[in-house]
Amino acid sequence: MQRVSIIGLGYVGLSTAICLADSGFTVYGVEVVPEKINAIQSGKLPFEEKGLDKMLAGTLKKKRLIVSQEYKDAIKNSSITFITVGTPSRDDGSIDLKYVKVASEEIGSELQKKKSYHLVTEKSTVVPGTTQSVVRRALEEKSGKKAFEDFGLCVNPEFLRESSAIYDTMHPDAIVIGSEDRKSKNTLISLYRSFYRKMPQVISTTLSNAELIKYSVNTFRATQLSFLNTLANLCNKIPKADSEEVISGLSTITKLDKRYLKAGLGYGGSCLPKDLRALIAHSKQLHVNPILFEAAQQVNQVQPLTAVEMAQRLVGDLKGKSVSVLGLAYKAGTDDTRESVAIRLVNALMDTEASVTAYDPAAMENARAYLKQGIKLAKDARSCIKDSECCIIATEWDEFKEIRPGEFKSLMKTPAVVDGRRIFDPERMRTEGVKYASIGRYES
Ligand SMILES: NC(=O)c1ccc[n+]([C@@H]2O[C@H](COP(=O)([O-])OP(=O)(O)OC[C@H]3O[C@@H](n4cnc5c(N)ncnc54)[C@H](O)[C@@H]3O)[C@@H](O)[C@H]2O)c1
Repeated sequence: MQRVSIIGLGYVGLSTAICLADSGFTVYGVEVVPEKINAIQSGKLPFEEKGLDKMLAGTLKKKRLIVSQEYKDAIKNSSITFITVGTPSRDDGSIDLKYVKVASEEIGSELQKKKSYHLVTEKSTVVPGTTQSVVRRALEEKSGKKAFEDFGLCVNPEFLRESSAIYDTMHPDAIVIGSEDRKSKNTLISLYRSFYRKMPQVISTTLSNAELIKYSVNTFRATQLSFLNTLANLCNKIPKADSEEVISGLSTITKLDKRYLKAGLGYGGSCLPKDLRALIAHSKQLHVNPILFEAAQQVNQVQPLTAVEMAQRLVGDLKGKSVSVLGLAYKAGTDDTRESVAIRLVNALMDTEASVTAYDPAAMENARAYLKQGIKLAKDARSCIKDSECCIIATEWDEFKEIRPGEFKSLMKTPAVVDGRRIFDPERMRTEGVKYASIGRYES
């Protein structure tokens, strides 16, 4: 089994490291934040991801995952390095490449001392041209060696989704490999051949095409979601319309990816909004008008507010009313609140002068920093809805699906539910006496 190093043990880096280590690779992880290293070494995941903590414990026990702040041993002892550092947005929406640059420089300095062949693989999401300009330049300058001759260089974007990281790593739709030389590409393919029992489809292309494929996927998904959400808003106004049936018809005819076909309150998280912003900024830099991408972004800005308007139509003016919100994470199964539409919704409710109480099974701690003053946090879902006059479902956690219509009726002051994630059956709600409105269904 090959030895691999992974630079940056955040969500992508640590998930990848644990999956590789679990399947028999020896993985050297490098991370700059000491608290993260301490947590990982003591078997604690620094984020919520189902099943990954158990795998982490196993890999530590077998000494297959070695984490450190130092690059030296990681590069010396491995033959392939993945760069998985963050690429956050700058104020103008473009991505900040400072972490990628520093990581590349550090790797380059270690490559200088190395005699054997080494492949560097850029996995962080970067705009087209970055691997050639920033990564290659830093590696060559610091190592004094030439890319594609003395060491290999590839782009291998990541497509895993938070809350299904293990499944997505084990069953990717495809592996995208951008390369300029055969040796780099074949080295990476041989690593994946020993990782997968059944080798996924490989999309082999140039460095910049691989970089752009990643952006095109996320931008397409964001645009598709904004399209579906606009369609759902239309369904709210058309008698007997239901966005689910419309979208099902649409997907049968157009064969769209079913995983991204649900209307709701908008998309959030660490990737879609950031990647859309980056591609908008990059398009502008290249004097291409990103009018479609900007429209997708604008739709997403206002979509969470549809839940506020629906609540107002259902129970009237919200001023002084007690409103409960179930969900703060950007989606179920994660504690990630980065750019969560649930948080935008909760903060917008405060502007109506409602009294707001919120609850999330995993994301309360992460949410705190983003919430406006005065928002109360409940200890569980039922105490959150207790005595409220309207409840809004903002995240589709399974735990919320278990609340029966009778419980909304007995616990709430006036049972009224705005279902921003379509998790309840409208007929059951209404027959049991709960006022109910949901995204994408005609509001009678
Ligand atoms: N989170 C996702 O679901 C996801 C999915 C696909 C792709 N991506 C992309 O993958 C990249 C990483 O995303 P993430 O969510 O894991 O980010 P993250 O911010 O969670 O993790 C990045 C980690 O890199 C560390 N780091 C920064 N500079 C370093 C350095 N010089 N040396 C070592 N460690 C360093 C940080 O401390 C942090 O722990 C981004 O480009 C992102 O767009 C993310």
